[in-house]
Amino acid sequence: MTTPLQDVYRLADFVDTFALGHYARVLSATDKRTGKTAAFKVLRPEHLSPDGDMRWEYRAFPSEADLLGRLAASPAIVKLLDCGYVESGEEAPRTGEIVSFGTQVKAFSQAAAEYAQKSWRPYLALEDLPRANNLLYLMKPNQPGTRWRLPSEEGLALATQFAQFLQLAHAQKIVYLDHKLEHVYWDGARLQIIDLNSSRLLNGQSDDANHYRADLRSLCVGILYPAFTGISAITGSLRAQPSSMSEVEARYQGIAHLDFGVEPSLSQALQDLLQRGAGQEYATAADFATDLQKVAALHGWDAPGVDNTPSRRQARDQMRAALKKVRQGQNALRDARDLLRDAAIMDDITPDLEYELRRLVKAANQMLNNRVIP
Ligand SMILES: Nc1ncnc2c1ncn2[C@@H]1O[C@H](COP(=O)(O)OP(=O)(O)O)[C@@H](O)[C@H]1O
Ligand SMILES: [Mg+2]
Repeated sequence: MTTPLQDVYRLADFVDTFALGHYARVLSATDKRTGKTAAFKVLRPEHLSPDGDMRWEYRAFPSEADLLGRLAASPAIVKLLDCGYVESGEEAPRTGEIVSFGTQVKAFSQAAAEYAQKSWRPYLALEDLPRANNLLYLMKPNQPGTRWRLPSEEGLALATQFAQFLQLAHAQKIVYLDHKLEHVYWDGARLQIIDLNSSRLLNGQSDDANHYRADLRSLCVGILYPAFTGISAITGSLRAQPSSMSEVEARYQGIAHLDFGVEPSLSQALQDLLQRGAGQEYATAADFATDLQKVAALHGWDAPGVDNTPSRRQARDQMRAALKKVRQGQNALRDARDLLRDAAIMDDITPDLEYELRRLVKAANQMLNNRVIP
């Protein structure tokens, strides 16, 4: 049943402006039925076909909804809250009708051809993830010559959770494929992954094994390398990479060697692990996870078959406690900067107040540009 869009969603601003995708525009939304916020991912109008045929960008929406359902057991995958079609042809749809299927993905898929004929666009309403946790947003420097990397402790935790996610996905014959920082959310402890538009359900053919290997290579080259070095293996400086289907599969093919010249302080065992991944030496996510555990053990982690000593364990605990405090400190500094910045543009303040506020904003920004972790 269709209803006016305005009765179902209140759509606010675009949230994707720092990392535009190829298929979709994404807006911040409130579901008026539940009062909950969501990220509203809707097909870009330019992917509609005038004759009502479904282009592959259109088909990607039911496919993504299906894969999100299959992977819902993973704590790392973003949650699907609702899916459906909107009538409006505006990039940000705010008028017209909507048909909402909730999480009835099968019904949503079956209706695709009918709504494509009417030039309605598919949307997915997803759990709304904070931009401040997006790894590209966090790590992209705002001035030349700056670079941040995740602390090894956090990067190992992220890699461990990603390896667990790929074990679950590969066990269901799903390859993620679209490994890049803008698809990864990290709050210091928990990994969350978005965008299964380019992911694929394999059909059990003989070359499936190659896809699993390539997926592990893409994890190492496309996410872990930039997370541990602060640079991209392809472009050097970090930037968003909107890609179509064919570009996604080709993106990391030519990169068999990783250069750690910018980050010589990175643990040699970790460099070797990522290099083996880039060289497609890992056939399964479980093989990768096993080697990852050995590297983590060198960083004070408990691992099967490793004799961790109390002092190593304690050193690691202390580092984790310190990193937590660094995060709290950086967050407090950002909040302080924002308060100062907002005060500096208030109407009717004296120049004396304004100059002092601006001086403090600048000093806080300098500290943030020299922050310890992304
Ligand atoms: N669940 C979400 N919460 C917050 N922001 C999101 C969410 N999903 C997507 N975004 C933002 O929108 C951008 C594009 O979304 P994405 O799913 O990658 O679209 P595409 O399939 O077009 O690549 C992302 O890079 C991210 O900035
Ligand atoms: Mg994307």
